[in-house]
Amino acid sequence: MVTSAPRVRPRRLRETPALRRLVSETRLHAADLVLPVFVREGITEPLPIASMPGVVQHSLESLRTAIDEAAAVGVGGVMLFGVPERRDARGSGATDPDGILNVATRVAVEAAAGRLVVQTDLCLDEFTDHGHCGVLDDVGRVDNDRTLERYVAMGLEQARAGSEVLGLSGMMDGQVAAVREALDDAGFERTAILAYSAKYASAFYGPFRDAVESTLEGDRRTYQLDPGNRREGLREAVIDIEEGADIVMVKPAGSYLDVLADVAAASDVPVWAYQVSGEYAMIEAAAAHGWIDRKRAVIESVRGIRRAGADAVLTYWATELAGWIRNGDDA
Ligand code: PBG
Repeated sequence: MVTSAPRVRPRRLRETPALRRLVSETRLHAADLVLPVFVREGITEPLPIASMPGVVQHSLESLRTAIDEAAAVGVGGVMLFGVPERRDARGSGATDPDGILNVATRVAVEAAAGRLVVQTDLCLDEFTDHGHCGVLDDVGRVDNDRTLERYVAMGLEQARAGSEVLGLSGMMDGQVAAVREALDDAGFERTAILAYSAKYASAFYGPFRDAVESTLEGDRRTYQLDPGNRREGLREAVIDIEEGADIVMVKPAGSYLDVLADVAAASDVPVWAYQVSGEYAMIEAAAAHGWIDRKRAVIESVRGIRRAGADAVLTYWATELAGWIRNGDDA
C-alpha cells in the first residue's frame, strides 16, 4: 500500500453509469435544438446535397414531412433557407411575397401548427446573382446602408409570411436596429430578432454554399469577422444587444467556443450557436470512413457547444439527435 494514498478522489463520481448521469453538468434537450432546412424552388422531390450526406434541398411537400418529423421528437425550431430558381443583383426574390423563402415560411407555419418555432434566414446571399450578402455599389463593394434598406423590406415580408424569429445573418452594421424599427413601425412588435452577431469568415461554410448553390466568387471578409478576433466577437454581440436583438448567436460553433463562452458570460439575452455545414461534413466524412464513432462524435460535438455556453444549438443533426435523446441515449 502506498504511504500517501490520495484523499481527494474525483474518480469516485465516475464509478457507475448512474452516478455519472447524476453528476452530469451538461444535458441535451430536444427543445434546445434548431434544425436548419433548405427549401428549393421548383422541385417536387427532395434533392440530396453531395457535401452534406443525409441533408437535402426540400420541396414544399417534403418540407412538411421534415417539420412533422422534427416536431414529433420535440425539436425546438426550424431555421428556413430558400434556394431560388432565379437571382439578380438586388436579390429581388427575397422581398417577393411569392419568393421561395416566403412561400416556404407560410407552408412551415401551417405544418408546424405551433409545435415548434418557425424561423427564417434574413440575408441576401441566396438571392443575389453575385452571391454577396448585400447589394453592391458602383465599384463592387458591399454597400452597407443600401443593404439595410433591402433587409428591412425582406424582414417585413418574412414577418408577414409568419416567421416568428428573423435570423439576421448578413453582418451589416446597424442591421438589428434597422429591422427592429421597421418591424415595430409596421405592427410586428411581436416578431423576434436572432442576431448572428459573431459570424466569422469561415472555411466551414463550404458545404452550405453547395446547399444553396451559391454563386459567390471571392470571400466575405469585408463583413464577416476575422477568425483570429475574440474580443471583436464579443463586441459585435454587445452592439446587437444594444440595438435590440432578442437572441444573439456565435457561428461557427466548434472552432469558436471561447467566443461563445465570452458572449454567454456577458449576455443578458439567450445565446445560441450554429454548428455549421463544415462541422457536419467533417464528422459525417470521418464516420463514413469508419474513422470515428458517428453517434458519439455527434453527441460530444453538440454537448461541447452547450457546455461552452450555448442555450440552444442550430445543428443539421437536430431531428436525429432529438430521437436519441428521447431514447435516453445522449451521453
Ligand atoms: C448566410 C449564411 C451562411 C450560412 C448561414 N447563413 C453562409 C455564409 O455566410 O456564407 C452558413 C451555414 C452553414 O455553413 O451551415 N445567409
